[in-house]
Amino acid sequence: MDAKKRIEAIRKRVSVRSFADAPSTVEMKETIRRLTTSHAGRKGPFGHTFRPFFVENVKTTGRIGTYGFIKNAPAFVGGVANKEFLALVDFAHAFEHLMLDLVAEGFGTCWLAETFKRGKISSITNVEGFIPAVSPVGIPARKKSLRERAIAGLARARTRRPPEELFFLSSLDEPLPKGHPLGDVFELVRIAPSGGNRQPWRLFIEEGIIRLYIKKSAVKSLFPVNIGALDAGIALAHLELGLDHLSYSFEYCDDAEAPPRKGMLHVASMKVSGAGL
Ligand SMILES: Cc1cc2nc3c(=O)[nH]c(=O)nc-3n(C[C@H](O)[C@H](O)[C@H](O)COP(=O)(O)O)c2cc1C
Repeated sequence: MDAKKRIEAIRKRVSVRSFADAPSTVEMKETIRRLTTSHAGRKGPFGHTFRPFFVENVKTTGRIGTYGFIKNAPAFVGGVANKEFLALVDFAHAFEHLMLDLVAEGFGTCWLAETFKRGKISSITNVEGFIPAVSPVGIPARKKSLRERAIAGLARARTRRPPEELFFLSSLDEPLPKGHPLGDVFELVRIAPSGGNRQPWRLFIEEGIIRLYIKKSAVKSLFPVNIGALDAGIALAHLELGLDHLSYSFEYCDDAEAPPRKGMLHVASMKVSGAGL
């Protein structure tokens, strides 16, 4: 898929939990299958391989066990990964690429890592291994269900912290100045989805190195899966797409110099170069 379409998808994406009550066409199923397959084998920043799956003809209620959060989803996508932190970061990085491609094709999606029954999905799909997250896929309903509106309200969906609470130069006392060359790239991270819309990412740019940290409070939510690791992988996917789009070159680096920061976990660093840096 072309990079510009993914950037547009980042901008227009919102979680969709209610789907049109109409059978999906053969063509739709084929598109979902093709996109899912196209991401199989993708390697994340830490070298783990993505193993996605696609489940069609699912009537959500009951069968897939989403506690009624998801209405009328005709299909689901998901994947398997080891439960280890960096494997989960890589899983989320790849899964977000797939999600953005689905959004670019006009489908509604929603990251589900808490409100679905893993055992049910495993038995329907016969996939072996841990399933960190799944997403319903379908045509969004014209009207959101009452329940969806309530959930979106609770998670304060769409609202995001202002950039000065998320992006910094070398310390928390130095928010990224307005007009900084990387401001437009970081904006694509700011609007990323995160578990409970907690937005645990903090980014620092210092001497050509971008460092991503995650608030430890997000990493603490280990049950049923480390949500902070998933949030980090999604943020890295958006960061990479943004850097590419604005013609910055970057390379992940081992970063023994990454300063420890109170209440935060360092996840990844990348050397970046390009206009204005
Ligand atoms: C890692 C992760 C896990 C999530 N798990 C769930 C979930 O279990 N149930 C749910 O309804 N929404 C879930 N969400 C969706 C978030 O609540 C949503 O992305 C956030 O509120 C921001 O809203 P938006 O996606 O509409 O921008 C999850 C999102 C992420 C990134």
